[in-house]
Amino acid sequence: ETVEWAAESYDMGGHDTYMHKEIAEQADAVDRVLRGRIDDRFATVHLGGLNLDARAARGVRRVKILGCGSAYHAGMIGAQLIEELARMPADAEPASEFRYRNPVVDPDTLYLAVSQSGETYDTLAAVQELKRKGARVLGVVNVVGSAIARETDGGVYVHAGPEVCVVSTKCFTNTAVALGLLALHLGRIRDLSVADGKRIIAGLRRLPAQITEVLRNEAAIEKLAADYASARSMLFVGRVRGYPVAREASLKLKEVSYIHAEAYPASELKHGPLALIEPAVPTVAIMPDDDLLDKNSATLEEIKARQGSILAVAHQEQQKADHTIVVPRNEPELDPILLGIPLQLLAYHTALSLGRDIDKPRNLAKSVTVE
Ligand code: AGP
Repeated sequence: ETVEWAAESYDMGGHDTYMHKEIAEQADAVDRVLRGRIDDRFATVHLGGLNLDARAARGVRRVKILGCGSAYHAGMIGAQLIEELARMPADAEPASEFRYRNPVVDPDTLYLAVSQSGETYDTLAAVQELKRKGARVLGVVNVVGSAIARETDGGVYVHAGPEVCVVSTKCFTNTAVALGLLALHLGRIRDLSVADGKRIIAGLRRLPAQITEVLRNEAAIEKLAADYASARSMLFVGRVRGYPVAREASLKLKEVSYIHAEAYPASELKHGPLALIEPAVPTVAIMPDDDLLDKNSATLEEIKARQGSILAVAHQEQQKADHTIVVPRNEPELDPILLGIPLQLLAYHTALSLGRDIDKPRNLAKSVTVE
């Protein structure tokens, strides 16, 4: 599988930064990761480079996803998708932690190395350690022919096109979608019904138009960002599907605006971080309209009782929040993919109003090829 990245994909295309351009490109990028892969007849997907036949895929008993930074967060979304669609235990772990702890390598586990660049040293080292111990490792990589793509047994290309900004946006989204495709594939080889397969495919196909809808909200998000630029610190909270979204949004904000941010599972607030809540520390609550909405709503009350301001990212206006960014509903399993997109814009506009070097934040490099 090879893809040529045309020279014009490096052009700024009228945007002031690559970050803005890459956020704006996401509907097209998602369209690309889906293209040619959906099989409506069997309500599944074909992933050409996987090198994992149906018999081998059935033999997989659990999935372990490894990556760093945003790739790790996309892996957290992917692990939930695999658990939900394929009903197999799955989890994500920072690749560096995994490689340093002398991991137990299980022959029935499928390992996935996730990396935009395919060159991140910690992720590559985890792959090499796994291969040395005889594991089956697949890559979920954006750069074709990169080191991780070469050293894995097969995998799924993310097809986001080149990402120039140090801060990952479209690659994060496309990686989550690629992991969704893999989850659907593994699910349909197991017990996911045709009806559920069709439901997920329809949801995947709705994503590009819904991303465009989210991005149309930019002017309102820009206004909110002007308020948040003065925050001393920000908390990002979510439960289950909302939690990896909170993690990624918090990373985005701190990388590009240098505002301190922390992500917590919403239910952990009362175990410590509630002590931080005060007017100068706003909370962003990721609260999709799922069976945890009431619990999330109770969390908003706890924050309000301590004079904290709240920005909710939700499927409908939240009365208890100071502001809500309303995001279109997809299928519940796919909702995390959309919920994070407005928060990329929030990070971008906050950084812009603070005059930050958006495409090259201080102290960071696009790919970390050292230990
Ligand atoms: C993302 O915004 C970061 N700059 C960073 O966390 C990045 O995702 C991480 O270094 C992993 O990079 P990779 O996907 O190229 O392996």
